[in-house]
Amino acid sequence: MLHSFTVLLLLLLLLLFCSLFLLPPAEAVDDTYTLPDEHFINCGSKSSVTFGIRSFTGDPFYGKGSKPVQDPKPSGDTPVLYQTARIFRRPSPYKLEMRQNGTYVVRLHFFAFSSSVSLADAVFNVSAQLNASAPLLLLLSNFTMKNSNESTVVKEFLLTIGAGKFLLYFIPSQISCLAFVNAIEVFLAPNGFVPDYATHINLSGIKGNYSGLLSNVLQKAYRINVGGPNITEETDTLMRFWISDDQFLLFPVFTENRQTTYDELKFVQRGANGSTKYIAPESVYGTAKELNSTNSSKKFSNITWRFKVDEHSKHFVRAHFCDFITPSLNYPGLNFCINGNFCQLISPYETINQLSAPFYADFVVDSGKSGNIDISVAPPKDERYQIAFLNGLEIMQLMENSYSSFVPLRPEPKKKILFIIAGSLGLAFAFIIMAVVMIRLVRKKEDAVEIPRLPSSLAFPGWSENDMSTARTVGLGLDLELRIPFAEILQATQDFDSKLFIGEGGFGKVYVGTLHGKKVAVKRREPGYKQGLAEFQTEIMVLSRTRHRNLVSLIGYCDERSEMILVYEFMEKGNLRDNLYDTNGCSKPNGLSWEKRLEICIGSATALHHLHTGSAVKIIHRDVKSTNILLDENYTAKVSDFGISKSSHSDLTLDNTIVKGSVGYLDPEYFMSVELTEKSDVYSFGVVLLEVLCARPAVINSPQKEEVNLADWGLFWLKKGQLEKIIDPSLVDKINPNSFRKFGEIVGKCLEAKGSNRPTMHNVLWDLEYALSLHTGINREDAGESTTNISLQFGLPVLLHLPTSSFPVEENEQSIVGNNGSDTSASEIFSQLKFAGPR
Ligand SMILES: *[C@@H]1O[C@H](CO)[C@@H](O)[C@H](O)[C@H]1NC(C)=O
Ligand SMILES: *[C@@H]1O[C@H](CO)[C@@H](O)[C@H](O)[C@H]1NC(C)=O
Ligand SMILES: *[C@@H]1O[C@H](CO)[C@@H](O)[C@H](O)[C@H]1NC(C)=O
Ligand SMILES: *[C@@H]1O[C@H](CO)[C@@H](O)[C@H](O)[C@H]1NC(C)=O
Ligand SMILES: *[C@@H]1O[C@H](CO)[C@@H](O)[C@H](O)[C@H]1NC(C)=O
Ligand SMILES: *[C@@H]1O[C@H](CO)[C@@H](O)[C@H](O)[C@H]1NC(C)=O
Ligand SMILES: *[C@@H]1O[C@H](CO)[C@@H](O)[C@H](O)[C@H]1NC(C)=O
Ligand SMILES: *[C@@H]1O[C@H](CO)[C@@H](O)[C@H](O)[C@H]1NC(C)=O
Ligand SMILES: *[C@@H]1O[C@H](CO)[C@@H](O)[C@H](O)[C@H]1NC(C)=O
Ligand SMILES: *[C@@H]1O[C@H](CO)[C@@H](O)[C@H](O)[C@H]1NC(C)=O
Ligand SMILES: *[C@@H]1O[C@H](CO)[C@@H](O)[C@H](O)[C@H]1NC(C)=O
Ligand SMILES: *[C@@H]1O[C@H](CO)[C@@H](O)[C@H](O)[C@H]1NC(C)=O
Repeated sequence: MLHSFTVLLLLLLLLLFCSLFLLPPAEAVDDTYTLPDEHFINCGSKSSVTFGIRSFTGDPFYGKGSKPVQDPKPSGDTPVLYQTARIFRRPSPYKLEMRQNGTYVVRLHFFAFSSSVSLADAVFNVSAQLNASAPLLLLLSNFTMKNSNESTVVKEFLLTIGAGKFLLYFIPSQISCLAFVNAIEVFLAPNGFVPDYATHINLSGIKGNYSGLLSNVLQKAYRINVGGPNITEETDTLMRFWISDDQFLLFPVFTENRQTTYDELKFVQRGANGSTKYIAPESVYGTAKELNSTNSSKKFSNITWRFKVDEHSKHFVRAHFCDFITPSLNYPGLNFCINGNFCQLISPYETINQLSAPFYADFVVDSGKSGNIDISVAPPKDERYQIAFLNGLEIMQLMENSYSSFVPLRPEPKKKILFIIAGSLGLAFAFIIMAVVMIRLVRKKEDAVEIPRLPSSLAFPGWSENDMSTARTVGLGLDLELRIPFAEILQATQDFDSKLFIGEGGFGKVYVGTLHGKKVAVKRREPGYKQGLAEFQTEIMVLSRTRHRNLVSLIGYCDERSEMILVYEFMEKGNLRDNLYDTNGCSKPNGLSWEKRLEICIGSATALHHLHTGSAVKIIHRDVKSTNILLDENYTAKVSDFGISKSSHSDLTLDNTIVKGSVGYLDPEYFMSVELTEKSDVYSFGVVLLEVLCARPAVINSPQKEEVNLADWGLFWLKKGQLEKIIDPSLVDKINPNSFRKFGEIVGKCLEAKGSNRPTMHNVLWDLEYALSLHTGINREDAGESTTNISLQFGLPVLLHLPTSSFPVEENEQSIVGNNGSDTSASEIFSQLKFAGPR
């Protein structure tokens, strides 16, 4: 009975004590600052979520080259904020509007979950741009959570930012092609949060004066609640995390933790010396670690904490004090020591002249070869006061001269859109064409596009019926010897076993099989695919009549029971694109050598030359692209896919009203004029050459307009004479400079705006062989040094100026590929049009 009464009493006392402890502090500080509501961003999510003491709003990201992802199966204790993220495949910025000049806290939250991609694989840099003319500051370099033991990493920076636009770039590395972020905080810190100068302690312990702190980026290294527990985002005034100090103690004995109640604390402003609860909260000042004077063994007459930091760097160190420990102000102060060779007396009496009044001291500290910063507190010389204590400690790295190697292109000044159509009628139809292109693209990005041409009565000047056309020779000229019975095909592919499925294209699914003991690729037309009978017949016609070492060879076909099946020799190494970069557009780490690449280009050029000049029939391929160049086991290039080719033999004019080709490879002149010549193949081949050099797709999503279209991108750098800036990283320093120059020259010529200025495939072939000989050093005796300059003609024959607003396609950032995050607009895909100039 008595026993339970005591327990009850104890409980009550405990409760009383707790309530005292948790009592909200009286508003002691005259500080008009409150934690702002902006910007707290819940990246990758449309909804707001509360985290810490703020609501993180839905992701406002509107740039390109990125998309939201969500943790498919978050564990129960994962905060909602960390269940979504935004991923980046290309350097892309978050753009934030700063209302006010000042020092800002920038915090990035990372939590690596696995969805369609594993965020832990990401390796990336983060850079900040303070204003349009400022260089990019590097905040994080080669950041990854691959080897991190922590599930969550929060990186924090202090930046002094002017009012206006603030850009935060996420820059994936070439290794991973992936960057991500789960949440972003960018908010104004209290006025005077960080001073512009502070006492500087160098390695010899000599005191100096460091000024210009505010023009540096500061990165949080440590934030310690000395003598107390962890303080979390939920309770800190600025949503900081303060970690308990014990793991940093060098000699964990002879110390004891002390604490006081919050309402004991007296936040006073005495000059600039007093602290506020935003500098550090009550929970930091209300706890301290004190030297345990009970054991006054001289051997351990101080408390020392050791912090691992970067070698040879500078750190901003802020020590927090609050003397609720000494009984009276007679205490002369404690010795605050840095790295064992600098000590300064910190006197609460002189600094703040009150007991239990929080204050702090700032230093800039050099770290040496050891990469350690040691902080100690020791009692004063006066033997009567064996007291030393510390309440809190913050260490922030000064990131001096840390600039990003990635430099975004300046946005082009808004210029008038040049479009080469005469008359307003033409304009109207240009809209229609664009609209159709966009609709098509929404359906299938990778496929060849078809663009219906206008009825000839309404055709633009210069449009004429072309004498060549796609074959639609139903039942005509199909080589019966190549016919293969359906039963044999079923046998070869084990009834189209899904295990033998290797890919699909515009025509249907492709299986690997064994026919008469030979490995074959079997392409079977399936309902729902765009290409059909016409393509089937064209393919058979072309390949049965034209055989060449660099053309894929057709073994046979099957048209039984309304099947449309094509059987080819099997190409061991797949298509050229897959040998250059992966599905994310990341170049292969150990890609093909330059020599191999040139040989592949030469092989493909040989094939195209043969097609263009073949004696009996001249053929325009019309769909030259890296996926239509296949490689056998020796990397011999074999051009394939003649489904939409045109031959001079065919005489039907059924689809003369249609522009065909693939996005990113399509000759803009052909697109405008609908007059197909073999020079359109030369243009597309020029894009393939760039792809081979840069190992990136012909079209990508990118916030940089210039970069979207590989042809534009290549010409952009070629014109600057800096094509080397964009080459495949695995080729850097591995190309003979003369060979490289020659190659750039070939690319420039192939991508000439006017077809008539482009070389023939024969010339291209010749030049490529020369580039190869320059690289390998094996000279062809008849190859004379060509000194032609790369002369790119950017002069634009302008027939019509349109104000930006009257041409919605150009400026519209609307997505054309649905909402899966790939949102390149049609205008960018066809931005080459600006260069086109048919007359
Ligand atoms: C920010 O600072 C710049 C230059 O120091 C000044 O011109 C501008 O008026 C300031 N803007 C605000 C909003 O304080
Ligand atoms: C842009 O930032 C740089 C570097 O911080 C600064 O020197 C410059 O004054 C800023 N310019 C404007 C217009 O704010
Ligand atoms: C980051 O990675 C790049 C490429 O792997 C390397 O060149 C660079 O030295 C690394 N930088 C740092 C600071 O580790
Ligand atoms: C992660 O933990 C392991 C074992 O606990 C340790 O050996 C390793 O150093 C830690 N890695 C990091 C980056 O802290
Ligand atoms: C990231 O920063 C490092 C410098 O620390 C640099 O070497 C590297 O090239 C940068 N990576 C990218 C993709 O810009
Ligand atoms: C520290 O500063 C003093 C005075 O400026 C100088 O003599 C000394 O060489 C410096 N020590 C180091 C390690 O830089
Ligand atoms: C340090 O430098 C700043 C600016 O250069 C100056 O205003 C300040 O008085 C200096 N402090 C000391 C203690 O010399
Ligand atoms: C304090 O935080 C650190 C780092 O997150 C963690 O390792 C530690 O367990 C926490 N301590 C307590 C008492 O929760
Ligand atoms: C202080 O040291 C004495 C003697 O070593 C020990 O008995 C006492 O428990 C210590 N106090 C604390 C709070 O650790
Ligand atoms: C003080 O510390 C020394 C060294 O560890 C130890 O030998 C001694 O017993 C301690 N004294 C007390 C009173 O605990
Ligand atoms: C702190 O005490 C340790 C152990 O006695 C000693 O090695 C060190 O020099 C002292 N540091 C300071 C700054 O007094
Ligand atoms: C602030 O602190 C310094 C050093 O601790 C002291 O010299 C100065 O008098 C203090 N200022 C005020 C207004 O108390």
